[in-house]
Amino acid sequence: MEPDYDQPQIAYDNAVAAGAGIYSKQILSIYDLYVLGFSNTFIWQCPSRLILDFYNEHISAKHLDVGVGTGYFLDKCRFPTSNPSITLVDLNSNSIETTAKRLRHYSPKTYIANVLEPIQIESANFDSIALNYLLHCLPGNLLSKSVVFRNLKPLVNNEGGVIFGTTILGQDVKQNLLAKTLMKTYNSKGIFSNTDDNLTDLESVLKENFHDYSVRVVGCVAFFVGRI
Ligand SMILES: C[S@@+](CC[C@H](N)C(=O)[O-])C[C@H]1O[C@@H](n2cnc3c(N)ncnc32)[C@H](O)[C@@H]1O
Repeated sequence: MEPDYDQPQIAYDNAVAAGAGIYSKQILSIYDLYVLGFSNTFIWQCPSRLILDFYNEHISAKHLDVGVGTGYFLDKCRFPTSNPSITLVDLNSNSIETTAKRLRHYSPKTYIANVLEPIQIESANFDSIALNYLLHCLPGNLLSKSVVFRNLKPLVNNEGGVIFGTTILGQDVKQNLLAKTLMKTYNSKGIFSNTDDNLTDLESVLKENFHDYSVRVVGCVAFFVGRI
């Protein structure tokens, strides 16, 4: 599949733009089937069902989702209330539009923003913030990607709020032949930037940013949770 790059609205660093720009409407239309259906089970060895369970475990009635893609997990998860307050942040307007449309029954608030920079959201104080399959799209290594946690921490309710997510690691995980091939291709195109992402760095970043944290790995995917 040849990438179909859309230009983000604002002129960002090329590497940041590459990680977000791949998500055209066309790519998003096959994302659930190809990434969440096929790749998660057969390439990354982590069925999407486990990520959905993870959402169900940590999602709250006042939730911020960063790097929203198609909004699959927000659509399928169980919120603890029938009328949750949902805010969506993404650098790519296609992802924002697709997800906002899918979740229109919840009337989500939307922001186009780069998570590598401070994010201004009025009356934030979220009880949960998810960044699912986002870190591996961002340039740098996990130590430099720590800025994401520094940018998001001011937005979380510091009395019991949680930041959670998953990311595909490029090191410290067992990769089958398909995973090795795809990881290499995606990194060469800048769709992923996770060649140097390892468990040790993820743990040290979580330790540096959170009072309480946990991390576990399934296949090539790290699941992390942090509380301040
Ligand atoms: C792999 S998709 C993940 C979608 C969804 N969270 C999921 O798990 O199915 C990554 C999303 O992150 C967004 N993204 C990439 N770089 C970003 C950045 N620097 N700031 C904000 N969003 C970004 C992309 O536009 C895309 O919507």
